[in-house]
Order: sequence, then structure tokens, then C-alpha cells
Amino acid sequence: MADFNIDSAFIPALHKPAALLPIAKHRESLLYVVETYPVTIVIGQTGSGKTTQIPQFLERAGWCSDGKIIGVTQPRRVAATTVALRVAEEVGCEVGKEVGYSIRFEDVTSAATRVKFMTDGLLIREALVDPLLSRYSVIMVDEAHERSTSTDILLGLLKKIRRKRPDLRLIISSATLQAEEFLSFFTQPTEETAPPGAGGEEKHETAKIVSLEGRTYPIDILHLESPAEHYVEKAVETVFDIHSQEGDGDILVFLTGREEIDHAVQEIAERAAQAGSRYGAIQPLPLYAGLSTEQQMYVFDKAPKGTRKVICSTNIAEASVTIDGIVYVVDCGFVKLRAYNPTTGIETLTAAPVSKASASQRAGRAGRTRPGKCFRLYTQQAFEALPEANPPELQRSNLGPVVLQLKALGIDNVVRFDFLSPPPAELMSKALELLYSLGALDDYAKLTRPLGFRMAELAVEPMMAKTLLSAPSFDCLGEMLTIAAMTSLGGSVWFHHDGEQKQMESSRRKFAAEEGDHLTLLNAYTAFVTTGRKEARFCRENNLNFKSMTRAVSIRSQLKRYLERFNIFVDESPASRQPAAEADQGRKAERIRRCLTSGYFAHAARMQADGTYRNVEGGTVLQAHPSSLMFNRKADWVIFHEVMETGEKTFIRDVTKIEKGWLLELAPGFYKVTDSRTS
Ligand code: CDP
Ligand code: MG
Repeated sequence: MADFNIDSAFIPALHKPAALLPIAKHRESLLYVVETYPVTIVIGQTGSGKTTQIPQFLERAGWCSDGKIIGVTQPRRVAATTVALRVAEEVGCEVGKEVGYSIRFEDVTSAATRVKFMTDGLLIREALVDPLLSRYSVIMVDEAHERSTSTDILLGLLKKIRRKRPDLRLIISSATLQAEEFLSFFTQPTEETAPPGAGGEEKHETAKIVSLEGRTYPIDILHLESPAEHYVEKAVETVFDIHSQEGDGDILVFLTGREEIDHAVQEIAERAAQAGSRYGAIQPLPLYAGLSTEQQMYVFDKAPKGTRKVICSTNIAEASVTIDGIVYVVDCGFVKLRAYNPTTGIETLTAAPVSKASASQRAGRAGRTRPGKCFRLYTQQAFEALPEANPPELQRSNLGPVVLQLKALGIDNVVRFDFLSPPPAELMSKALELLYSLGALDDYAKLTRPLGFRMAELAVEPMMAKTLLSAPSFDCLGEMLTIAAMTSLGGSVWFHHDGEQKQMESSRRKFAAEEGDHLTLLNAYTAFVTTGRKEARFCRENNLNFKSMTRAVSIRSQLKRYLERFNIFVDESPASRQPAAEADQGRKAERIRRCLTSGYFAHAARMQADGTYRNVEGGTVLQAHPSSLMFNRKADWVIFHEVMETGEKTFIRDVTKIEKGWLLELAPGFYKVTDSRTS
């Protein structure tokens, strides 16, 4: 047990001066290693200053003097934006000037930008246009330990690029001790370049590990005596136990997703209201990826004096963002993990036990500024049984987008790509199969021209890319652009205040289309930009999320610009927007549904007598998500945008009715072989 005084009279400073960060001591040696070795692997505790300080060190040391820039990649959009804001603040510039960020559909950089934060996926896209990433003098791959799909692909690409660009410097930064794995990856020769056995002597010159001395305070780790029935309830209970029994300091609660977090935040607020002034004030705050940037920023604000901040977060707070003042951590022991089943074709996002590495990382969040405590909502035995690390995302994902991009980058033999850890063969073949059926690959598994190349360039997933690119032939490009933008938002456009669910439902009914969710989204968007004049008032009156709608407008215009590069133009003249006669509208709706089928045929399902759906493979029971218009409605065949498994049920989202015949007509290759699937 650590010995510490919980009633310490000192309050940690909100902003630690950069000179006091652990990394400050390593500045000279770090710059020396970057200068001397092509690849620098930096390991150091979260909060030691890697993300915010290294780019500034490099910039000041002259790495941008010849007009080149420093790129820093993050696996998460949230992290890319928040750290850019932070570094801009430290540098004293407006974000988008010397320090900027760029994430999909949102580029906040300018000619003045010298340090650019971005998602790793975005940098891969840049390689499509600039294969040697020649704008960059240094690329720092941050949070590499997370092993996101894009990080893994990016590392493979950078290893390749480095051979053609000896001047390029790479920094791989990791919060955990996986450094050796990265080191051997970068020091091992690839099959293409060197005969086996060669490169041994190169090992010393290619890469070097720099370890930032850790700075942690003791953390007491407490486990439950017996397993918790319901971890969200238990988390709330634990928060109040801490609040009533422990000294001050903010609490960070790790939960798995938005629904749990919203529930916990509400529960904490209600209980605190009931308790009245029995304890001090408590301020629960959510933190997850779907929040607006502003909402995310609240968690960094200091709570009013005498108020305890409780941040309920997904594993965003595990390593990517650092919140100061956390003294207590409550760890539910689970994390949402993406997994893809190549047999059913279903991508799931389910809560799985965390790894030991994650659990320690979470606990470590408590001891950053002073001694802390971590309450694990699981038993010691359960902890012992956890896996050391979760498998990299690349080994459990739908590889369709990855394969498409690798092919577009000129890597035809994707199986032989230099993966940090190669994905299972079934995932590869499933991806190739899907891309082939979408027409992106030919019989020789080469990217088709123009379709395959264009699909790779469009910043939407392959099925949506195919849908958009077929839209002109269905004469519905304008509508499909809107649908693509609305389904790319990654969250609901509908919103309601507490207790106004009914009102939201009736607002939504105003835009509802008999044919399903895609057309409903189209109606809502059209109303927003016409009668609603893109105003916030319209959104308030119709329970639409104004920020999301505004984003949809911007995404739509970016997708439109992409298509214009391929000489595909949309007729948006006022005449084309005249309200059509009802019969015409019906025909238009049918063209849109056919067009959706041309891209989403692999996501087809049929309603059963009991109201659930079966996918084409037959085995899986699917249900329309409660947020879908098709929830509790009758249909026969449908296509859906996405499928997710939550708990016991597998839900389909953004569902539209189609005709069985269209599947055979629009995807003969996919459906003819086993006609029985659709009978
Ligand atoms: O990357 P690493 O985890 O090593 O550290 P960092 O993100 O560079 O954080 C260095 C310091 O800046 C920490 O004390 C953070 O709390 C602080 N910081 C902050 O206050 N607000 C941010 N948005 C980012 C970092
Ligand atoms: Mg960092």
C-alpha cells in the first residue's frame, strides 16, 4: 500500500510548464538520435510530452527550414484535433497557421503550416497523390502501440518509402514497451530488397530506441472481491464511494461506449441531485469520439473550486489524450473491440475484456501528478486471466478498404506486403472477393480503371464508393452525394433533450420515407438546405443536430469535388431541384434504391415471419436498430449500411427496402452462383 497524504494542501497546476515535462531532459539526445538514425523509436509514459513537445523540438531544430513540414499521425480523429489545438496554443498561433491538423473531410492547414497533425489514415491517402510523401522531412507515427489498422499499414508503407528517401526521418512513438517489435520491424530487410541474412550490420544504423525516463507516483490498485453483476451500475456506485470516502482529486471512469457513458453521466447527475449537499459538488462529463470538439474540450477545463470532476470515457483517455488532475481511476475492465467475421461478413463492435497492457495503462492515468488509486471492477483472478495484449486491429477487420488502398498505391501483391503482423488469410480472401464483386478488381486481381482507382480515391468505404460512382447511370448523383454525406457522419443526426423522445420521433416522421432510412435522411437534408436555409433554428424545431447537418453540407461538397476531379459533374441548377410530380418522385426513389443495391448487395437481408431479418448467408439473425425507421415495420428484402453486434443482438442500421430481383440484376456475379441464397 502506498503511503500518501490524501488531504494534500497542494493543487496540481493545470498546465505544467513544458520545461518540467520528463521529455525536456531528453531534448538534446532525442534530436541527436533523429539526426543520426533514420528511425527513432520513442517510448515513454503517457503525459511525458511526446506528442506535444517532439514536433516543437524538431521545428525549432530546423527540420522545416527547407520548406518541408513535420507530420504527426494519430489513430484517432479526436486526438489529432485536440493535440493540434494544444500545440497551437503552446506555440502561440491560431490553429491552421504554423500548427494545423487534417482529418477526413476537415483540413485545417495552410501554406504557413509547419507542424501538421493528422490521422494515420489520412497520411495513407496522401501517399496516393504523393507516393514518397515528399512534403515531409519528419513523420512521427504516434500511439503506434495501439496497432490500429491504419497505423500498421502506414508503418509498412513508411518502411518502403524510407528506402527511396534516405533523408526522411521517422519517429515511432509508443506508450508501452513494444519497442523491440518496432525496432526489429524496421531493421529487418524486406524480401524485395535484400537476400536473407543481409542487413545484419545495418541494424545498428537504421533505428534506435529512446526511452523517456518514467515519472509516476505510486498507485494503489484495488480489485473487486467478487465479480460485478453490472459494471455500469458498479462504476456509478464506486464513483460515489470515492466521492464520500476519499480525498479530493478528479475521477476518470473507463466504460466502453457512448450509451454506457451517457447512462452513467445521467445516473451520476441524478444521484448527486438526490444527495443534495450531503457531499461536495460533483460534475460528471462524457468523453467519446462522437462528441463535438467543444464538448470534448469541457473535460480539459478545471472544475469550479470544491467540485469534483468525473470523466466517463471510452479508451480515448487510455493513452491518446491526457487530462490533468485525475487521482482516481475506475476501470470497468472492458473495451469495445472491432472484429470482423469473414464467414458471415459481419463487422462487430463488441465489448471484450481489456488486455493486461491496457489495464496497466488505465491504472497509470491515476498517478500522473500525485499518488492515486485505481478501482478495477473485476477480480484479481479475472485480471490474471486477461490476455497480455489485444491482437492488432488488422487481424480482425474487414480488409476491403485496406486492400483497395494498397492496390492503388501500386502494391499489387498485397499478401506479400511487409506487414508488422500479417492478417489471417481468410480476411484477405474475403476482401479480395468483395472488391472483385464490386468491380474494383479484375480477374487478375488488378485494380480496374477507372472504377477501382476511383473507388480507392474516394474517402468513403468501398461499398459507398461503388454506389456513388454508379449514381450517374441511375440518374441520381445529387441525391446519392447527400446520402453518402449523411451516412458518413458516424452518429445520429436526430437529437432530443431529456424526455423529448416522443417529439423527436414525430419530427422524424415528418421526413420519413416509406422506402426506408436512406431516403428519410435525404428528405431531412433537402429540407435543411431549402426551406431550412441551413439555419440552426430549423434544426432546433425539427430535432436535427445542427452541427451534424452543417458537417453533412461540407462533406457533401467535398465528395462532389472529388467526383469533379474524375470529370463527373452533378446538375445542381435550380431547374433540377423543382419539386417533381408524385409519380416522378416514386421513380426517382426507385432509381436511388437500385443504385444503393448496386453497392450494398452484399449487405442484403430478408425479413422473416417473426419480424427479424436473415442475411444472405442465412445464418445470422439481424434486427432493425431501434433508431431505424424500419424498426417494427414490415418489409421483404432490404439492404443496410452497417451491421453491429451489441450484447446479444445484431442490429442493422440505415435500412432501405429493395426488390429481390434487383440483387440478381445488379450483382449477378455475387448472387447467381448460389441462387438458393435468395430463394
Ligand atoms: O504524448 P504524451 O502522452 O507523452 O504527452 P503529451 O500529450 O505531449 O502531454 C504533455 C503534457 O501536456 C501533459 O501534462 C498533458 O496533460 C498536457 N496536455 C494538455 O494539458 N492538454 C492537451 N490537449 C494535451 C496535453
Ligand atoms: Mg501522446
